[in-house]
Amino acid sequence: MMSNTSALDNIGACVFDAYGTLFDVTSAAARCSDVLGDKASPLADIWRTKQLQYTWLRSLMGEWADFWQVTGDGLDHALSALDIDDAALRARLMDLYMTLDAYPEVISTLRILKSGNYKTAILSNGSQEMISAASRSASLTGLLDALISVDDVKIYKPHPSVYQMAVDRLGMAADKICFMSSNGWDVAGAANFGFKVVWVNRFGQKPERIPGKYLVEISTLNELPPLLGL
Ligand code: LAC
Repeated sequence: MMSNTSALDNIGACVFDAYGTLFDVTSAAARCSDVLGDKASPLADIWRTKQLQYTWLRSLMGEWADFWQVTGDGLDHALSALDIDDAALRARLMDLYMTLDAYPEVISTLRILKSGNYKTAILSNGSQEMISAASRSASLTGLLDALISVDDVKIYKPHPSVYQMAVDRLGMAADKICFMSSNGWDVAGAANFGFKVVWVNRFGQKPERIPGKYLVEISTLNELPPLLGL
């Protein structure tokens, strides 16, 4: 762990990215490995990469479409890149995106944060319906004070107006918000906005070379409560 824990004093809320941070986006393709075989892993990678690229490209183009549409477009690209033409499989993969597995330590971490009286929230590119369904399916709903979706601003992270939604909805200054993401680009965007950022570097990635510096790097959320004195 790389840490600067004193910098996490005076935190009032813990805000989480959803996909890749709380929810395992590879679990949808993995659950279809009966059909996908050894294409499950490349499909998950291409799908995620295209989904993210389309959020940034659409934001630059001023061509908003919600994350359900973008996720389906990314999947269509990935299926075509792997020469898969299977409408039933496509439907199954999209359905599974509504019920992704949460990482194993998510519930216990949220319980500890709630027992320490921290406010908790998701701040996600996901549509309201997607993050509500995934939270419900993973039994997280009662452990989260707010599920904040970009649907309300119609532009994607890392645009600052997305991070501003957490400030407005939680009624808390940016420097009182501790933001967790596994996505290096989201970590940079959130830190550049003014959040105190903890990088949950689940995938051992290298830092992005863009503005915005995280304060602490951890590898799973188990390491978060001790950073907050819990
Ligand atoms: C999210 C994606 C970007 O939940 O991980 O916002």
